[in-house]
Amino acid sequence: MDQAHQRAIAVIAHIDHGKSTLSDRLLQLTGTVSDRDMREQYLDRMDLERERGITIKAAAVRMEYRRVRVPTGEAMSDRGPGAQASDGELYEINLIDTPGHVDFGYEVSRSLAACDGVLLLIDAAQGIEAQTLTNLYLAVDAGLEIIPVLNKIDLPAAQPEKYAEEIAQLIGCEPADVFRISAKTGEGIPDLLEAIVAKVPAPTGKPEAPLRALVFDSYYDAYRGVVAYIRVIDGRLSSRQPIRFMVAELEVEADEVGIMSPGPTPVDSLDTGEVGYLVAGIKEVSLVKVGDTVTAAGKAAAEEPLHGYREPKPMVFAGIYPINGDDFPLLRDALDKLKLNDSALVYEPESSTALGFGFRCGFLGLLHMEITRDRLEREFDLELIATAPSVGYELVLTDGNRKMIRNPTDMPDRSTIEEIYEPYVSVMIVSPSEYIGTIMQLCQERRGELKEMHYLSPERVEIRYHMPLGEIIFDFFDQLKSGTKGYASLDYEPVGMNPSE
Ligand code: GTP
Repeated sequence: MDQAHQRAIAVIAHIDHGKSTLSDRLLQLTGTVSDRDMREQYLDRMDLERERGITIKAAAVRMEYRRVRVPTGEAMSDRGPGAQASDGELYEINLIDTPGHVDFGYEVSRSLAACDGVLLLIDAAQGIEAQTLTNLYLAVDAGLEIIPVLNKIDLPAAQPEKYAEEIAQLIGCEPADVFRISAKTGEGIPDLLEAIVAKVPAPTGKPEAPLRALVFDSYYDAYRGVVAYIRVIDGRLSSRQPIRFMVAELEVEADEVGIMSPGPTPVDSLDTGEVGYLVAGIKEVSLVKVGDTVTAAGKAAAEEPLHGYREPKPMVFAGIYPINGDDFPLLRDALDKLKLNDSALVYEPESSTALGFGFRCGFLGLLHMEITRDRLEREFDLELIATAPSVGYELVLTDGNRKMIRNPTDMPDRSTIEEIYEPYVSVMIVSPSEYIGTIMQLCQERRGELKEMHYLSPERVEIRYHMPLGEIIFDFFDQLKSGTKGYASLDYEPVGMNPSE
């Protein structure tokens, strides 16, 4: 379909604010999934089935939407259910999934780079949370159109007026511009679909230019190899075409290109603006990097990759050991298998007098660490013990050399160290304002430096601190939760290395 009729959107939401339920309603209302086949959390379940061996991941789904024809001057809401007239124009709406947690912030930014707009989805009984704010700011940075939506208006505890005010303040719109829906009952969803095509701009790539497609997600399929999710920014990608991954410097042939609608459907080609998947017989997910650019191999190649590629960098380190020493080879195999689908995971063997043989592992953050450990135990039936997490320090030695250390036992003699640098993060906390004192005290005890405080509403505040990552990887979150009776939410992102004692 031509670019003018393409839209790609993502939903930014806090856990449980209703992203899956809204996706279900959109799939249903656009006829992508028939009422008969509909089951709750349709897309999430496709992921689950993948874990059981049927390999489908719904990182991006294409829906067709025939726009309602509304004569000038008539409001959408004046139209009855019969307003789904077939004389409107047909659009393609791609729903792109974003990873839900800050540990994957870079990947969120690449998913957003593949979008034209976002739905900012907020529970009308809860209001905005820290995670939502971080991702919202990423979307604002990416220059995306933001459609604010309050969900769950059917709940008796919903306070749409209050939270519409909060959101309007935050993104600079009128409270009346905030959509009010119930993803459960379907109320307000037709208007929302209409707004997606009306408000979100069409992509503006160059169909005549050399192919450039952005890889925004990938996973490993045991039968087909790596499946990359891409958006064609310029040019066209055809199946059987020789292609090149520009950052990885990898040349292969595109075996199959296709779209998810909602299951995988091969197509001859993906045109400028289109979103789909690419299979090219690649066996290692670490070769297909999120943020890489696919272009044509040979003379037709683009000169410059799309900007914004970044290597994932482990931030938190811990030793992982089998409780039963004989399980060491099993642990190695398990890590090798996990690595197939997780290029951010790094590990090297280490040994300890107390724990025997194990691995020093590097993770993107705390959640990544928890998920990995959980999967090792659950999927590979291993009993593990993990050392307390630590961060990496950079040393400048008296002889002028620089050295990264990731394990406290590698710290050289104090007299040989000139300077020490440690990783800092920008921490964002959203909390009821009555807990400001508790939060500030907690952050200050952890060497935090207050950067910003901003009232979302008279009762809720957003606080930003810069603090050492090493101070938050250990029970900071638990203390924050207990100090605020569970009401505060937390998010953080790396801001570089700073001098340390
Ligand atoms: P995760 O998958 O955990 O990230 O959550 P999510 O954001 O996808 O939320 P999900 O769609 O799973 O919804 C969370 C809960 O809220 C579920 O129990 C839904 O049934 C419920 N829910 C979602 N939308 C609505 C709504 O409009 N009204 C009501 N009453 N409940 C809703």
